[in-house]
Amino acid sequence: MTHRNLVILTGSGISAESGVPTFRAADGLWMGHRVQDVATPEAFARDPALVQDFYNQRRRQLAQVEPNAAHQALAELAARWDGDLLLVTQNVDDLHDRAHASTPPAAGFELIHMHGELLKAQCTATGQVLDWPGDLAPDQPSPFRPKGRLRPHIVWFGEWPLRMDRIEAALAACDLFVSIGTSGAVYPAAGFVQLANHAGARTVELNLEPSLGSRFFDDARYGPATEIVPAFFAGL
Ligand code: APR
Repeated sequence: MTHRNLVILTGSGISAESGVPTFRAADGLWMGHRVQDVATPEAFARDPALVQDFYNQRRRQLAQVEPNAAHQALAELAARWDGDLLLVTQNVDDLHDRAHASTPPAAGFELIHMHGELLKAQCTATGQVLDWPGDLAPDQPSPFRPKGRLRPHIVWFGEWPLRMDRIEAALAACDLFVSIGTSGAVYPAAGFVQLANHAGARTVELNLEPSLGSRFFDDARYGPATEIVPAFFAGL
């Protein structure tokens, strides 16, 4: 069967072999911090220096990493795909962006960072977003409003992911849904497979191990992303 409308969801597993840590490592900590201490609006209100520093470190790490063979395979797919291809990533790194910049995509392609982007900042007063490749100070002034401050452009726990209308519309119209490198622990992304199933799409999981939602997929391949992602899309 040939597919035309493809939605791909990626999670931190696709960037693991580039050297970006995944979230749910065995110790239950996120780079040494409890999630509620760094990735919530309450944490930012309580201790902006800790939260800004945590994301400053993660932002600096991006300079040390490169897209891997899995990001590159998706960029090559996007360059030759003769239909709609929505790539939704939960990752806040810029590794997909860099892969697609060096292999420009065909017209039907779009990339959405549903959990935000490390290299952008957001005004606390207006919600406006701007490119921000450097560090953010604890009390970083906003250029948009005198009383505003800049915070990381990251969707924290308790906040709603970005562009959900567009994502749900694409899932309702897709005929193939592929989930790559995500544990299925965080909604709403963990529910995308069920929306794709409702649409009658073929659903495939590519991951190191079965995810929490593996039973919802029609098909799966297990192994490192740099091996299984290029192999799967080469046959499509
Ligand atoms: N290749 C493929 N899959 C891998 C690899 C690899 N080399 N390494 C790890 N994985 C898999 C793991 O087996 C796991 O199922 O990637 C998955 C990573 O899961 P999580 O650490 O839970 O990350 P993710 O699913 O992206 O988390 C979702 O949670 O905290 C939030 O907002 C954060 O976007 C994040 C969201």
